[in-house]
Amino acid sequence: MVDVEVYGKMLSTLPEDDDHPYRSGPWRPQTVEYDADDLHVQGELPDDLYGVYLRNTENPLHPAIARYHPFDGDGMIHKVSFRDGHVSYRNRFVRTDGLVAEQEAGRSLWAGLAENPEVAVRPDGWGARGRMKDAASTDVVVHAGVAVASFYQCGDLYRLDPLTLNDLGKATWGGAFPRDLGVSAHTKVDDHTGELLFFNYRTKPPYLHYGVVDASDRLVHYVPIDLPGPRLPHDMAYTEHYAILNDMPLFWAPELIERGRYAARFHPELPSRLGVIPRRGGPGDIRWFEFEPTYVLHWTNAYESGDEIVVEGFFQGCPEPSSAGPNGPKDRMFRFLAQDIMQTRLHRWHMNLVTGATREEDLSDLYTEFGTIHNRFGGRPYRYNYAATNEPGWFTFNGLVKHDTLTGHAERYQFEPGVFCSEVGVAPRVGGTEEDDAYLVTLTVDMNRDLSECVLFRANDVGRGPIARAAFPERIASGTHTCWAPGESIAGW
Ligand SMILES: [Fe+2]
Repeated sequence: MVDVEVYGKMLSTLPEDDDHPYRSGPWRPQTVEYDADDLHVQGELPDDLYGVYLRNTENPLHPAIARYHPFDGDGMIHKVSFRDGHVSYRNRFVRTDGLVAEQEAGRSLWAGLAENPEVAVRPDGWGARGRMKDAASTDVVVHAGVAVASFYQCGDLYRLDPLTLNDLGKATWGGAFPRDLGVSAHTKVDDHTGELLFFNYRTKPPYLHYGVVDASDRLVHYVPIDLPGPRLPHDMAYTEHYAILNDMPLFWAPELIERGRYAARFHPELPSRLGVIPRRGGPGDIRWFEFEPTYVLHWTNAYESGDEIVVEGFFQGCPEPSSAGPNGPKDRMFRFLAQDIMQTRLHRWHMNLVTGATREEDLSDLYTEFGTIHNRFGGRPYRYNYAATNEPGWFTFNGLVKHDTLTGHAERYQFEPGVFCSEVGVAPRVGGTEEDDAYLVTLTVDMNRDLSECVLFRANDVGRGPIARAAFPERIASGTHTCWAPGESIAGW
């Protein structure tokens, strides 16, 4: 028997008949927070699955001041925990300062990504651009036993109990948190050291900082990184001994920044640059390597191989889509969200630290993105990543692809039309030793049955399809990033 309780409900001033393409359908926001213990499971829930899957989603509560972008919605974390053959669910908004202020005001107070910062009601705000709301809606990781939600434009790190989703306040790092700049989404947790690697960026020099937080949540390293101008890094990578930062030729036009406008432009005449810095290196220790121009939203992994640093991620064949095209939403900003339009292919970049030589190659012809890996192989030689295919023209995922980076083989699973999934969590089977001796966890948005389920696959047999599924109290909104945290990484569980 499923025991569902309503924990709370946020004030929403959005219209009932909202037809914004990213506030309706698979993106319809939720306002209710649930606790649901012991979900009913269809299929066989493995008893060697122990840990927590967390998913961050955007759930706007108020109409935008002028123009809504799907990355503006307030962050809501969904938690699915597995232990002893039982599965429990909770969802909670991240209690950000911005959400609290807008709940009191009953309206949006800050400018979104598709809006000029000048439309903001409040003079303050967050983000590399300024006058935005830090919605903590982009990413979630578990570091030092605590869930940490973050925002792609830089902001605070919001801490939550990974099991109860109770609000644990903002990261302080013993008073050393860079409050002036905040921290970008896509912090990296190295399971081998317990460290959290991070970066932030802004429009004034120094344009980039890189830092390390140790396993006990203390800031132990924080250095400025020299760049030729303001850039828009979204993600970083790391190996056992190095962090890898990036300077990609897609950035806010500097002459427009002067006038308070922020428009991303691709410069095909400039190289992509990857910067390799020892994990505790100083500003002068970084070495830059040049590659074909592109933009990379997400790296899947990086590792050391002899004299080489190898980095893998998704190369964009079309980083700046044109204003017209078939099948997609008419608004151009949404075309920046569709993998098929951006032509995102799994790619590998090589950097030789001794000779300085570089080379690069596509690893797949498929348009995929949002690739996740077995965390213990993070920063180390690895073989598999699990990525998503998208609904043409849309930022919704309609299938999974297991990429074998050794052979190039791709194993696919396609959901039925109208069913969308989330970035998968890779949950190692308890006692498993092989890299793909794991379960894949994803959350569906099923428009045919108007529900959401947590769906499990075997990582070593993705094509077989789901092995178990458990329904949630309400259909959730599609969203962005996720993580898997093994049970033993969560203190006191
Ligand atoms: Fe991201």
